[in-house]
Amino acid sequence: MSIIKMTDLNLKDKKILIRADLNIPMKEKNIISDEKIKAFIPTINIALKKEAKIIITSHLGRPIEGKYNNELSLKPIVYYLQKIFKNKKIILIKNYLEKIKIKIKENELIILENVRFNIGEKKDDEKLAKKYASLCDIFVMDAFASIHRCHASTYGISKFAKISCAGPLLLKELNSLNKALKKPKRPMIAIVGGSKVSTKFNVLNSLAKIADSVIVGGGIANTFIAIDNKIGKSLYEPEFIETAKHLKEKYSFIIPTDCYVGTEFSETAISTYKKINEILDEEEIMDIGDKTINKIKRLINKANTILWNGPVGVFEFKNFRKGTKEIAYSIAKNKAFSIAGGGDTLSAINIFNIKEKISYISTGGGAFLELIEGKELPVISILKNKQNNLKKILL
Ligand code: 3PG
Repeated sequence: MSIIKMTDLNLKDKKILIRADLNIPMKEKNIISDEKIKAFIPTINIALKKEAKIIITSHLGRPIEGKYNNELSLKPIVYYLQKIFKNKKIILIKNYLEKIKIKIKENELIILENVRFNIGEKKDDEKLAKKYASLCDIFVMDAFASIHRCHASTYGISKFAKISCAGPLLLKELNSLNKALKKPKRPMIAIVGGSKVSTKFNVLNSLAKIADSVIVGGGIANTFIAIDNKIGKSLYEPEFIETAKHLKEKYSFIIPTDCYVGTEFSETAISTYKKINEILDEEEIMDIGDKTINKIKRLINKANTILWNGPVGVFEFKNFRKGTKEIAYSIAKNKAFSIAGGGDTLSAINIFNIKEKISYISTGGGAFLELIEGKELPVISILKNKQNNLKKILL
């Protein structure tokens, strides 16, 4: 069953409410990375071309529901968009739940304030979802990075809006992931690192079934290394050692054989080369070693599909970024279809300046991982059901 696409609908003079994911990293009200906004701009342009009356909303951060928090207001996004859409008046509406209708003039573009200020947003309160739905003729779900969240502004509204469809960014993300996961050009390798160990073990299981080799780094690799070695103060998840053992026996995992350690978690810690069976109690693994790097580079060079989620070392510290940097440059040089997702991976891609060389960069973190796990996400199911409703409306 297919999903209704925003691009297929006649939007002329229709009030469309687009749920975007503009949950961007901020520091003291300044935008640290505008990647998500940039990825969403084509959706606005298409809707403008189709002469829609546009309302946009998003969440930002994790505020307490029912409490306005100036730090997490969408104001900086309004300013950002105003600079891009100079001939439009971008209006931020705070009290939209009190309104029966939102009036939009020809030259206006409306932003509804952070949906997570609303009581019931995260619990998918039915009343709230119906309220959102009543504000538009057509609901456009374009928040790929929130596709795994069953909230009132994602799931509930999709159910109650007369017409609910998928936005261009959402479809682009789903298609790219589909391309990488369903019919990957082989050999396919997956590189999974980072510090969120427990959330990623389920993904490893699914990935191991799809990829020809799974390369592990960071806290995940340490959990594998800890099966047979002492790993000192390194980050790992003891309760996942049994799972790691099972995965290692069953599938092809590439586990580091050497590494760089430090005795303190700091930018200035001295980096010492070690084989993985030489780690002392006071040491912690902070990066992969040169033999491991070379092995991974050989695999990258042979690969035709590369999926990357998570750095393999503490790349934020100059002394411990060699592994992640070498991997990033190797992926950039390779002609394979490469797809990368997750916050830390995106920062690494920015630091090493290889953005143009990655075939597809996903805006999703958790959403990216849950789709890799092969989960059918509820918001997508609702959008598929809405296809039938549309037929009824049009008949
Ligand atoms: C993300 O940044 O991964 C999405 O915006 C989802 O944010 P959340 O984890 O706060 O729901």
